[in-house]
Amino acid sequence: MTEDPATEKREKSRFGLILHLHPRKVRESTLRFTLTFGLGGMAATLLLIQVITGLLLKFHYEPSPESAYNSILNLQESLLFGKMLRNIHHWSAIAFVWISFLHMLRVAFTGAYRPPRDVTWITGLALLLLVVLSNFTGYLLPWDQLSYWAVTVAASLLSYIPLAGDPIRRILLGGVEVGQPTLTNFFNLHTGVIPLLIIALMAWHFWRIRRAGGVIVAERDKESPIVSTRPHLINREIVVAMALLAVIFIISSLLDAPLRERANPAFSPNPAKAPWYFMGLQELLIHFHPLFAVFILPVTILAAAVWMPYVRSTDKNQGIWFLSPCGIRSAKMAAFTGALLTIIFITVSEILPDPEALLPRVPPLLTTGLVPFILTSGTVCFLLKYLHRRYSLNRAEMIQSVVVLMVVSYAVLTVTGIFFRGEGMNLVWPWDR
Ligand code: HEM
Ligand code: HEM
Repeated sequence: MTEDPATEKREKSRFGLILHLHPRKVRESTLRFTLTFGLGGMAATLLLIQVITGLLLKFHYEPSPESAYNSILNLQESLLFGKMLRNIHHWSAIAFVWISFLHMLRVAFTGAYRPPRDVTWITGLALLLLVVLSNFTGYLLPWDQLSYWAVTVAASLLSYIPLAGDPIRRILLGGVEVGQPTLTNFFNLHTGVIPLLIIALMAWHFWRIRRAGGVIVAERDKESPIVSTRPHLINREIVVAMALLAVIFIISSLLDAPLRERANPAFSPNPAKAPWYFMGLQELLIHFHPLFAVFILPVTILAAAVWMPYVRSTDKNQGIWFLSPCGIRSAKMAAFTGALLTIIFITVSEILPDPEALLPRVPPLLTTGLVPFILTSGTVCFLLKYLHRRYSLNRAEMIQSVVVLMVVSYAVLTVTGIFFRGEGMNLVWPWDR
C-alpha cells in the first residue's frame, strides 16, 4: 500500500502515465484473470506496437504504385530486421482485430454493456470499426496482387449501398478504380487519420471506464477487499503485456507476412477474395440480394448493437460469465443451432436452382432479398421464442443468445468464404482449391 504521501509522490513520478490511467485502488475481485482475460489491456498494447512499428516502417515505405512494392521488397531483404519489423506489424494487426473482437464478446457475455457502461460500449463499437478500417487501409500498402485485388473486391461491396455507395467508393478510391490516388488516400488514412482517431477514442473509452467505477463487479463480489493499483493491478498488466509481446515475437520470427507478385491491374486472380474479416460479407453476397447482404443486414446488426445497452432488463447477474446456468445452456444451444442452420442454409442455396433464373419475372429484390430475409428473421424469432420458453430466459439472457447466434453464423460464413470457395467462388473442399 502507498499511504505515505512522499512514497506516493515518488510512485506517481515513476509510473506517472500508467497510474493516471487507473484509479488509486481497485476491488480485488476485478483482478481475477478469468473475469477480463486482460483483453482490453492487450488491445491497448497492440495499438502501441502498431504505432511504434508503423512509424519505423514509414521511414522506408514509399506510397506510390511504382515504388511501394519495391520498397517493401527492399525493406525485407536489405534492411537489418526489416522483415521482422514488417512481420510484427502484420501479425499484430491481425491480433488487434481478434483481441478487440474477443474483448467485445467478453463484455457482452458478462453483461458489462448496460448503463453506466453504455457509452463505453458504444465507443468500443466505434473502436472495433476503426481497427478493421486501419487493417483495411494497411492491406493495400504492399501493392501486391493479394492486396490490390482484395481492396478492389472489398471496395466494390460499397457500390451496393443505395444512393451514397458509389460516391463513398469514389471518394475512398479517389477515382473509379484502385490507383495512385487510392494509395495516397489509404496511406494518409492509415498512418495519420485513423491512428489519431483510435487514440482519441481510446482515451474517451478509458475515461468512461473510470467514470463507471472501473471494471464490472458481480453482486456477490461487492464486498471483496480493496487493494492498491500498484503493485496489484499494474504488475498483472505488465505480465500480460510481456506474454503478448513474446507470442507476437515468436509468431513473427516463425511466419513471414505474405507478399505475392507486384499488383497487376490487368490480371484479376480467380477467385478474387476480400480481406479475411470481410469474407463473411462476400459469402453473404452469394446468397442474398446485394442491398440486403451489404447494407440492410449489417446496418440492422450495428443499430441493434448500439441499442443493446438500453433494453431494460431485471437481470442482476452482471459480472458473471454467461450470466446464469440457464444463460450458459441457452448460449450453447444458440451456438449449435446457429452453426447448423448456417451450414444447412449454404448447402440448400447451393443445391436449389437460382431463384432469379427460376422466376425471371419477379424482381430479384423479392426473390433473393425480401423473401430470404423474412424467412431468416422468422427462423431466428422462432428459435428465440423456443429458447425463451425452454430456459425461462430474462431479456439479458435473450440478448446474449442472439449475440451468440449472430457471431457463430458470421464465423461459419467467414470460414466457408475463406476455405470452401474456389474458382468462380464455387463451393469446393479446401484441399481441391
Ligand atoms: C492502428 C493500428 C494499425 C493497424 C491495425 C495496421 C495494420 C496494417 C496492415 C494490416 C498492414 C499491411 C501489412 C502487410 O501485410 O504488409 C499495414 C502496413 C503498413 N502500416 Fe500499419 N497499421 C496500424 C498502424 C500504423 C501506423 C500508426 C503507421 C505509421 C504511422 C503504420 C504504417 C504502415 C506502413 C508504412 C505499412 C506498409 C508496410 C507493409 O505493408 O509492411 N501503420 N498496417
Ligand atoms: C482498441 C480497442 C479497445 C481497447 C484498447 C479497449 C480497452 C479496454 C480496457 C483496458 C478495459 C478495461 C479492462 C478490460 O475489460 O479488459 C475495457 C473495458 C471495456 N470495454 Fe474496451 N477496449 C477496446 C475495444 C472495445 C470494444 C470493441 C468494445 C465493445 C464493443 C469495448 C467495450 C468495453 C466495455 C463496455 C468495457 C467495460 C467493461 C467492464 O466494466 O467490465 N471495448 N476496454
